[in-house]
Amino acid sequence: MRNYNFCAGPSALPTEVLEELKEEILDWKNHGLSVMEMSHRSKEVVEIAETAKQDFIELMDVNSDYEVLFIQGGASLQFSMVPMNLLSGSKTEALSNYLNVGQWSIKAIKEAKKYGNLKISASSEEVSFKKYPKPEEWKIDAEASYLHLVMNETIDGACLRNHENLPQIDLVADCSSCILSEPIDVSKFALIYAGAQKNIGPAGLAIVVIRKDLLRERNDLPAMMSYKTYADSDSMYNTPPTFAWYLSGKVFSWLKNRGGLENQKRINESKANKLYAFIDSSDFFKNDVDIESRSIMNVPFLMNDESLNKKFLIESEAAGLLNLGGHRSVGGMRASIYNAIPEEGVDALVSFMKDFEKQNG
Ligand SMILES: Cc1ncc(COP(=O)(O)O)c(C=O)c1O
Repeated sequence: MRNYNFCAGPSALPTEVLEELKEEILDWKNHGLSVMEMSHRSKEVVEIAETAKQDFIELMDVNSDYEVLFIQGGASLQFSMVPMNLLSGSKTEALSNYLNVGQWSIKAIKEAKKYGNLKISASSEEVSFKKYPKPEEWKIDAEASYLHLVMNETIDGACLRNHENLPQIDLVADCSSCILSEPIDVSKFALIYAGAQKNIGPAGLAIVVIRKDLLRERNDLPAMMSYKTYADSDSMYNTPPTFAWYLSGKVFSWLKNRGGLENQKRINESKANKLYAFIDSSDFFKNDVDIESRSIMNVPFLMNDESLNKKFLIESEAAGLLNLGGHRSVGGMRASIYNAIPEEGVDALVSFMKDFEKQNG
């Protein structure tokens, strides 16, 4: 029996994908060994890797102006690689723009400041990150090399979902917790990155979609920190995380077989709408994120009586609804309803919440 895992990351993987893995773990397609034990230079692994990349390109509708890279180190390494690779000029001249829209933005900003000047284009800190600033309000510096934004703030549950009126500057988006949840127009961005452990696959891997003109020769950087190293070597400059890549490929083909990102958007909106509708209708639970900024992936919620939090978490766990605790920095509860959480998982959660309210309200 599998429980519903609402963890923000590492997160639920589709059961069908894990079933396939189970079939292949001892003996991959009659080769007598698992993919983890194969050379990354073997024909088989190269083919698995290439198929995964092509399926991702197809799902995201990435055009040939972009390169797709598979990089170790999770999304946090991208907080450093982005400024290291994209800033231009000396440290005193280099300038970037950042949105400060939540806890992950703060971490990205802290890293980028090590490599040059940085100006905040917009911040939602004064409203406790509950309302994503509208693109029309962002202040852009003409000399800035790029503007960085965290598209979906996993901890705070606020997201930029309307991509109209994005400014004319190279936009770099951390899409860790919203990638593959709905279609996105890649051509509006210079670089998109995402840690794998939410909607892609196992932790440790990040996927970077980068416009090819940004793949500059950078002999001043460690080889493993340069995007060009990955582009020139099909992301196999060194031994890549083959298991994470292989399993991510399985997730991509699972998504394709389900009708791709349009279908995923429909499912995800339906799940999120159901959960928000219940929370909004209740006097017992609340979500205080601005309605237009609400994430369809991470739904934080609170109870009016916070002393019930512990009870809620113990009882939900016992009911097979795992990892509903909010991030340690904000407390409360949070349901991460990524692609692998089926609609029935949300139905089970809502039904549990209704019962909990009845018994404790
Ligand atoms: C939006 C966002 N960015 C970055 C990270 C950091 O990812 P990693 O742990 O892969 O470095 C996370 C992790 O949850 C995240 O949610």
